[in-house]
Amino acid sequence: MAMETSSSLTARSSFRAKHQRSSIFWKNTPRKDWVAPWDIGKAQPSLIQAEKEGLLKGEVLDVGCGPGDNAIYLAAKGYQVTALDLSQHALERAAKRSKAAGIADGTLVFKQADMLHLGSTLGSHLWETALDSALLHCFPPELQPRYLAELQPHIKPGGHLILFCMSDANKDPYTGPERISKTQLQDLFSESKGWRMEQLTTAKYDTPVREGGFDTWRAYIKRV
Ligand SMILES: C[S@@+](CC[C@H](N)C(=O)[O-])C[C@H]1O[C@@H](n2cnc3c(N)ncnc32)[C@H](O)[C@@H]1O
Repeated sequence: MAMETSSSLTARSSFRAKHQRSSIFWKNTPRKDWVAPWDIGKAQPSLIQAEKEGLLKGEVLDVGCGPGDNAIYLAAKGYQVTALDLSQHALERAAKRSKAAGIADGTLVFKQADMLHLGSTLGSHLWETALDSALLHCFPPELQPRYLAELQPHIKPGGHLILFCMSDANKDPYTGPERISKTQLQDLFSESKGWRMEQLTTAKYDTPVREGGFDTWRAYIKRV
């Protein structure tokens, strides 16, 4: 049996520590009395634009849905949406907003799920479109491939992931989540990993904490 070296043990325990810290943090976020920097009380304009361009098709899986405004926007447009989040607080906020928006029961389904440990949460269901609005960048770089490996099997072959994530165009001082470069995205979504990057453009992510919003990538990626 191969012996684990001390450096591989250190790498594994630091992987666990980071993962755990990230899960505990997100499970308790946002506190009920806190307006999160991503909570603008309406759908992100960049998502609305992508929808107008016809990039969202079929049933939609919104991962890391937060306060639910993107999912609610799409459900109101007639999409069948399943919206997932790790945080019970976020899901409660989202369910309240969905009810206030008059979204019909069954059109939009909220579920608690950890995108790093999906297990059997989603069964064998496949979605035509997955939406990641500001989730990928919540994971440290070493966890990003693991998250995508959990998500990918739930997108139909030929279906798409539409992704918005912080870009390295955000200059210091910067206190947001991971900034991701074009090269990192090209590596995460390479053909050898079962993806094809069909569009990669820049976009803005509106926030109550920075006038003009954050600089993000908008990626439209096919599951091949
Ligand atoms: C930056 S917020 C974005 C919220 C929403 N998509 C939006 O754009 O307004 C990230 C969301 O991902 C959720 N999240 C973080 N880690 C997660 C995980 N491992 N599994 C599922 N959701 C997670 C957080 O609870 C939070 O609601």
